[in-house]
Amino acid sequence: MVIAIDGPAASGKSSTAQWVAQRLGYRHVDSGSLYRALTAAALRDAAVDEPWSGEQLVTHGPRVSLRPEGSSFVVRIDGADCDAEIRDNAVTSQVSRVASMPEVREWVNAQVRQAAQTHDVVVDGRDIGTVVFPNAPLKIFLVADPWERARRRLNQRLERRPSDDEVAEETDLLVQRDAKDATQTVQAKDAVLLDTTYLTQPEQVERIVALAHAVTHRPLVT
Ligand code: CDP
Repeated sequence: MVIAIDGPAASGKSSTAQWVAQRLGYRHVDSGSLYRALTAAALRDAAVDEPWSGEQLVTHGPRVSLRPEGSSFVVRIDGADCDAEIRDNAVTSQVSRVASMPEVREWVNAQVRQAAQTHDVVVDGRDIGTVVFPNAPLKIFLVADPWERARRRLNQRLERRPSDDEVAEETDLLVQRDAKDATQTVQAKDAVLLDTTYLTQPEQVERIVALAHAVTHRPLVT
């Protein structure tokens, strides 16, 4: 079973996918973490302004692994945890460029499909329901107002209420990344569109869990 959750930057895909996976006894695969890890591995070896090619970038692929852990697959670089590194600004500012290369996309898609061979998965990304798993029985496209997305991302990162100026600055960055990612962020025709601007996280999780039960015809256990 595959549940695909796609949507723009900071629309809550990863945290929602993680909760949904826990509720259903599935495993969460964060495809963005693979794009980020490949970018971070390349950045360890080369300067940011290097004119990278897709072929060169995928040579770092064997250094990046996905390890099943609880209800997730955790990404590692050279066998070690890399969560803070892959979310830092250096990686975030370069990842869209890396993700635009077809060789890189093929490499990430192969890792994600392999993870789904052995587990029921909730996969989040941008093209999961269109390119990676076009036959997924449940596809969700998560959207939210840019200001609200920026506010949530900062709340999570700073662990405090951000100021309006901080939210405005983060909104600009998100909108710029949305533009860079536009070609790879595609809503599948059969995806359920969920606008989470006015939903709490538990509400959006419950909606997806209910849809998953409807699709699998399994009874709803609370
Ligand atoms: O959570 P956030 O929106 O910040 O991004 P992410 O899911 O961690 O993905 C990081 C970057 O990877 C995105 O900005 C895209 O450039 C790329 N990506 C992609 O192209 N296709 C995917 N399926 C997932 C991520």
